[in-house]
Amino acid sequence: MPEKRRLGILISGRGSNFQAIADHISAGELDATIAVVISNRAHAAGLQIAHERGIPALVRPSQGIVREEYDRQLAAELKTHRVDLVCLAGFMRLLSPAFIQEFPSKILNIHPSLLPSFPGLDAQAQALRHGVKITGCTVHLVNEELDAGPILRQAAVPVLPGDTVDTLSARILKAEHRLYSDAIKAVLAESA
Ligand code: GRF
Repeated sequence: MPEKRRLGILISGRGSNFQAIADHISAGELDATIAVVISNRAHAAGLQIAHERGIPALVRPSQGIVREEYDRQLAAELKTHRVDLVCLAGFMRLLSPAFIQEFPSKILNIHPSLLPSFPGLDAQAQALRHGVKITGCTVHLVNEELDAGPILRQAAVPVLPGDTVDTLSARILKAEHRLYSDAIKAVLAESA
C-alpha cells in the first residue's frame, strides 16, 4: 500500500480548520495523514485537539526570534516530519521568502473572504463595512505577498441582514471547514 501523503499543519489558535481536516481524514473522505501540528503559541486551543486525537503536536514559540531564523527552524521541523504539504490554518505569521522556497507550490492557506477582496486581518469586518451581500472563503497557494497566491478553491457565503462579525464569521467558518479539505484533496490528486 502506498504511504499516505503527509500534512504539516501550522496553527496559532482555535484550530477548528485543523480539526475539520482531521475529521475528514478520520471519516475516510481525505486520504492523507497529519504528520505534525505546529503552533507558534503555547496556549493555542488547537494543541489540545491534537493531544486528544493522538496527533503529534509541537509548540515552537516565535517571540524574540528573528523571522528568518524562526522560519529556518520551522522548515527543518516540517522536513524532519517529511511533510508533503504545509497547511496554514489560522497561523498568524507572515512567512519569509526562504521558507516559501523550501516548499514550492506546497503551502496552502485559508482566508475568510473571497480574495482578492478583503485580504489581511479582520476580513469579515471588512466585508460588513463595505456592505457586500456575498462574501466567503478562499484556499490559495502561499506566495511572498500576503493573501495573494494562486487561488485553488472558493466558496460563497451570503451576508444576511443583521449580521455581526460573529454571526458572519460562524457562517463562513462552516464553509471553510468543507473547503479546506476539498482543496487539499485536489492538490494531492494533482501531484499523485
Ligand atoms: C479562519 O477564519 C481562517 O480562515 C483564518 O483564521 C481563522 C482560523 O480559525 N486564516 P481556526 O483556528 O481554524 O478555528
